[in-house]
Amino acid sequence: MGLVTGKPRKPEKVMQGVTDQQQQAVPAHVPSHRVFAFDHMNDARLTPDTHEGIMALAASAPPIFYAPQYCGHWVVTGYQECVDLSRDSEHLSTRRYNLFGADEPLVVFPMMLDPPEHTRFRAPVMQAFSPRATQSLEEHVQREAQLLVNGIKSQGRCDFVHDVAEMYSMKLFMRMTGMPLNLFDDFRHWVIRFFRTADDSERHNIYNAVWQAMTDIIEDRQQQRKDDVISRLIDASIEGRQPKKEELQRYCMQLFFGGLDTLVHALSHSFRRLAVEPEVQRQLAEDASLTGRAVDELLRLYGITTPLRIVVKDFNYQGIPFREGDMVMLHTPAANRDARVYSEPGRFRWDRTLPHLTFNSGPHTCPGAHLSRLEIKTMITAWLEHIPEFELAVDEMPQMHAGLVYAMDSLPLRW
Ligand code: HEM
Repeated sequence: MGLVTGKPRKPEKVMQGVTDQQQQAVPAHVPSHRVFAFDHMNDARLTPDTHEGIMALAASAPPIFYAPQYCGHWVVTGYQECVDLSRDSEHLSTRRYNLFGADEPLVVFPMMLDPPEHTRFRAPVMQAFSPRATQSLEEHVQREAQLLVNGIKSQGRCDFVHDVAEMYSMKLFMRMTGMPLNLFDDFRHWVIRFFRTADDSERHNIYNAVWQAMTDIIEDRQQQRKDDVISRLIDASIEGRQPKKEELQRYCMQLFFGGLDTLVHALSHSFRRLAVEPEVQRQLAEDASLTGRAVDELLRLYGITTPLRIVVKDFNYQGIPFREGDMVMLHTPAANRDARVYSEPGRFRWDRTLPHLTFNSGPHTCPGAHLSRLEIKTMITAWLEHIPEFELAVDEMPQMHAGLVYAMDSLPLRW
């Protein structure tokens, strides 16, 4: 607990908002003072501004509490608590977590494997996303950023989510995986609908369509390699053998579900914040060497996902009993705003030294972190080169929503 130096959070708001019915559904091993109402999909605190709501949550909730909503699950909002639990693969697994009680959770590689198997299956992804492999994409990333910004700069305004973030993230993803660009419209539709639809059958159909598109490209690359991630995965080694076709399919699904929507929203939240920080815009436009530091402070402020785990072996942590089958949500966006470790957690500051948890920590730390940082940094640089001052188009509110990904639906900007 070495990092937790500030004042302990007050526990008196525990039980707040929990109905009698919800209280009764809480498992017997959960201490009642740990129960705290939080609906991660529709919590009133998360409207209209998700991250203001997350900061209110971080300030008022205990660092670990039990939310009775949905099937009931633990929520970890403390920084050190997230770090400790994300590293505990003995008691916590990614294999079968299932927050909504769905019959068959998606099984993607390497995310839904546990060490030591996970370590073996992660190796090919680490090879495919090594800094050297990522460097070969740098030219495409720069070209795409320049093209997009050039295309909109004379308009004087745009919806950043639709006109920039989605286009950029999807084009780069398709380029990186070697997907044919004639699938661009389908891809765009699949990504947007998969994460936003409330209709299970639509989500299921999209899953199948993506699986098929990925299978086609895998089969094609098995015949003829190209300079793309799928060719690199095919030639990667899992303890001396090449990945099988089904394993490749599961890798590709992970890339699709983990690497597209996240980048769209990380970029969009970053630009929303920059739009209301004219001083930061000015500093970045004057000194581009600051951009890398700004990217990490923006990523800290705007965590996007909440990694999920299931308890596979009973254990106690900080005196709290976790029991086999309990679901655990590592609320890293809240941990990134934990006032015990970050002073003025809601402020953009240049002097942060503590690493943020937006890419999580521990064995599942995002292998796409290096690429994501490069893509965000390149877009900020290209944007400020052409559009050195910009602001929110204040007549239209940016729209965002909570969920397993903290998403922005639209971001009207003007300059
Ligand atoms: C800003 C954008 C991104 C964010 C915020 C993000 C966030 C995360 C987080 C938090 C995890 C860990 C999940 C857990 O512990 O349960 C993760 C894992 C992963 N991410 Fe990302 N990600 C981003 C972009 C990408 C990109 C661009 C790719 C690749 C195309 C990618 C590929 C993966 C993979 C393969 C894993 C699984 C790693 C493992 O289980 O060992 N991510 N990501």
